[in-house]
Amino acid sequence: MCGIVAYKGQKNCYPILINGLKKLEYRGYDSAGVACITEQGKITVTKRSGKVKQLEDVLKKHGMNKKCIGGIAHTRWATHGRPNQINAHPHIDESATIVLVHNGIIENYDPIKKFLKSKKVKFKSETDTEVLVQLIGYFYKKGKLNFEQSVRAALQRVDGAYAIVVLNKDEPDSMIAARKGSPLALGINEKEFFVGSDISPIISHTQQIIYLEDSQMAVIKNDNYEIKSIDKDISLPKIVEKIDYKIDDYDKGKFKFFMHKEIHEQVDTISNSIIGRTTEHNVILNGLLEYWSQIEASDKIFITACGTSWHAGLIGKNLIERFAKVPVHVEYASEFRYNRTLVDNKSVVIAISQSGETADTLAAIKKANDYGAITIGICNVAGSSISRETDCGVFTRCGHEIGVASTKAFTAQISILYLFALKLASSRKQISKSAMTAHLDFSSSLRKVRSVLRKENEIKKIALKYKNASDFLYLGRGLNFPVALEGALKLKEISYIHAEGYPAAEMKHGPIALVDKNMPNVFIVPKDMTYEKIISNIEEIRSRKGKIIIITDSKEKILKDLAHDLIIIPKTNHYMFCVLATIVLQLFAYYIAVGKKLNVDQPRNLAKSVTVE
Ligand code: G6P
Repeated sequence: MCGIVAYKGQKNCYPILINGLKKLEYRGYDSAGVACITEQGKITVTKRSGKVKQLEDVLKKHGMNKKCIGGIAHTRWATHGRPNQINAHPHIDESATIVLVHNGIIENYDPIKKFLKSKKVKFKSETDTEVLVQLIGYFYKKGKLNFEQSVRAALQRVDGAYAIVVLNKDEPDSMIAARKGSPLALGINEKEFFVGSDISPIISHTQQIIYLEDSQMAVIKNDNYEIKSIDKDISLPKIVEKIDYKIDDYDKGKFKFFMHKEIHEQVDTISNSIIGRTTEHNVILNGLLEYWSQIEASDKIFITACGTSWHAGLIGKNLIERFAKVPVHVEYASEFRYNRTLVDNKSVVIAISQSGETADTLAAIKKANDYGAITIGICNVAGSSISRETDCGVFTRCGHEIGVASTKAFTAQISILYLFALKLASSRKQISKSAMTAHLDFSSSLRKVRSVLRKENEIKKIALKYKNASDFLYLGRGLNFPVALEGALKLKEISYIHAEGYPAAEMKHGPIALVDKNMPNVFIVPKDMTYEKIISNIEEIRSRKGKIIIITDSKEKILKDLAHDLIIIPKTNHYMFCVLATIVLQLFAYYIAVGKKLNVDQPRNLAKSVTVE
């Protein structure tokens, strides 16, 4: 989704901004732009639809003014108005004085636009963002308010979510950044400032970060800055955090795509999510310690999330109900936030989010907080909004995930949910010490991740056979039904092939009508209590001539006879089976997309971090 990077300092702005935009590409976008200002207040705006590379080429051709002392840049993921050059950011007010980049949505843009039009303000674009910059310009030009007051006055009149950075031609030495609902980070170095919608464009320049809170603005003037409230003209404390980061997270290394790299990283990321959190027969989740007695006593757990994280939530439900015997309700965050809810002050609400910034999940958590529930965040990004809005939480610790299709975050989320379920079971005396010890012995299962990755070529060959199919069914039961959903989602996201995940038996109630000789059906078949049942489901498809691809830990001949393609993964326990099967499905989707020559890391229309409703 939209990305922001801004710089104020003595270095040449353009390379910093263009490289920053490249770091933000992973979020998904359709146009990009940059505005820089010289010491004399000359503002140059350059925008292009398409990729950052196109913007960079234009800038290289027309020269990048080295004398600029500040700049703002943006990748836009269209919401209001088509993805074209005019609608791309930065937007500038009609007197070409105020220039701004914006993430989020101004919900009441229409009445404000009407008001401004009644004052003869002329608009160029179809965007809600232009309304905001024109409103700031309107207040500023009236002459009674200074730059900061004009920004504040405009922000006090808009509804919706925003993260903005603003420059003013009359005050080239100033820059204002503000947020409500959409994240924004300020990086501070000696005499220079960086702003980013996340830390990716900042962190290679400085590790001193302030995460702006909702309704805060950073007012930068010359070499100084203040954190202020948007609601009132008051200064607030500066809470600077030192962020650790690994440079390799932003480097593809030997891989062509980040998604491929991230699939392979699971050898380490799954263990990172577990290491230090277990003893021989105990789980230690320090992030939950303060609230554990309430969590343990709760008899109602809700899980809320979006996309892949929602699938992890379904696995979490199965594990928590299986081990701890507490009922769990899983709901899409976009539904949770508006549905009538049974959440109360005895409930636990778990929000799962890789980015920690998904707007619907954040809203769901705020609602749960309002109802007095204990809120837990399972997030990957430290300092993210969801990690800060929840009472307590556990980080997935898998490093920056850049591929839009989530991979390593999903398997880490499952690991955390597994640990959580076991800890809860143990606290509630629902599991024996010996069973805990057996579950917490990850030594051999982690090695199996590596052996699945070694099957890559075999999976690739099978994937390429099916790359021209137009529809897929993914079928699994129990814990592997969410795995089927996730496999189907991966394929849809990066290969644009229609795919549906279904509980294997439920397939009879509708989807079976789709089956013909061209349709691939991916079955996830662990050798467990559902094994015989699922074999019957395979027979049902086979007898209708559907193509059968089986992922299993069984070597029985019947599967060889039934399958057109068979992928055998190592034997392990229930939980680890679904992790291993997921990795197979990630590689399967990846190679289909590569076979179709698609941009795996930046699939069309998708955004990595969905910060609007
Ligand atoms: C977007 C991403 C998905 C992700 C979902 C939820 O749709 O493309 O990969 O699963 O958002 O994101 P979150 O960061 O909350 O896990």
